[in-house]
Amino acid sequence: MDTEILESTQIQEAADFLAKGQLVAFPTETVYGLGADATRPDVVKDVYAAKGRPSDNPLIVHVSSPEMVWEYADTSYKPLAEKLMKAFWPGPLTIIMPIQPGKLSKAVTGGLTTAAFRMPNNKATLNLIKTFGKPIVGPSANTSGKPSPTLAKHVYHDLHGKIAAILDDGPTKLGVESTVIDLSVEIPTVLRPGMIDSDDLLKVIDNVNSDHHKVTANEVPKAPGMKYKHYAPSAQVIIVDDVKDFKQAVTEYIAKDVPMGVMATDEILKEVPANIETFSLGNDVLSASRELFAGLRQLDNDHVQYILAQGFSDEGHGAAYSNRLNKSAGNTHYKN
Ligand code: TXA
Ligand code: MG
Repeated sequence: MDTEILESTQIQEAADFLAKGQLVAFPTETVYGLGADATRPDVVKDVYAAKGRPSDNPLIVHVSSPEMVWEYADTSYKPLAEKLMKAFWPGPLTIIMPIQPGKLSKAVTGGLTTAAFRMPNNKATLNLIKTFGKPIVGPSANTSGKPSPTLAKHVYHDLHGKIAAILDDGPTKLGVESTVIDLSVEIPTVLRPGMIDSDDLLKVIDNVNSDHHKVTANEVPKAPGMKYKHYAPSAQVIIVDDVKDFKQAVTEYIAKDVPMGVMATDEILKEVPANIETFSLGNDVLSASRELFAGLRQLDNDHVQYILAQGFSDEGHGAAYSNRLNKSAGNTHYKN
């Protein structure tokens, strides 16, 4: 199959593919998603196959309005969920709630009694869902285990030939996936950190448990997707936490005479010798979050064996960046 690249205005073409039971990658403010009719188990199964994703890992149901959610979710969660929807939708917050029995297939929920809902902040995609008239599932549109796509060309690289089309709306604005909050437990719990941090959430709801996503070795993670190896290039990523160590780390790795790459802010890259392959993370944790996945993809090439990557504080908006970088590095940190 040829994969068509559609412009962000070609909404009807994209909706027609979905109506035919085909897969269409769509833009969001976080990363590109892999869209399919959420009400058809047969096409949802194709999503898992295209990504090579384990089938016990449930998918996010993307909607174009809060009303669409209440056709599927347990309406007793309305009072709490609507506070979050009012404050953060459309936007990078995914809300997990129990569903009305039988309303979503096992292919979507992975057999759980809950489902994840999100209304993304992207005009083209909101139009697409509205035009299609039904919610669409949307895992990140990458091969399972690889960094999430922040450009249409990343999607094309991983999935061309396997999906009907990509709705191209340029680079995504945030670059890390949505915050996932689970409302089905006694204290609302953040299962995956994103750009909406716990301080933002606490302005709207009284109580949030946000340490849960720091999964230790023996713990069973609550979001099934958090247990798999993620965002990992073939090169070994090494996190340099303290900017003061960077020069020394680079010197040490140059001395090892192994092919390496450096991913850091411009301030640090100024000091890196010109023959070293580099990738700019811009100048702060926001630009670094936006660029992280593109950097991991670019430096994941034959001439790089190690990637030295700049760490940031995991407070507030840094939580998402740190979480994703740690996963890509298998928690490997530079020690001087
Ligand atoms: O920003 C995003 O959320 C992007 C864009 C495309 O919307 N989507 C995305 O989807 O990151 P995905 O499938 O790559 O990640 C969804 C995460 C997974 O870790 C999955 O296990 C978890 O949400 N999840 C989904 N449904 C769940 C449920 N019912 N209970 C617990 N975790 C759930
Ligand atoms: Mg993903």
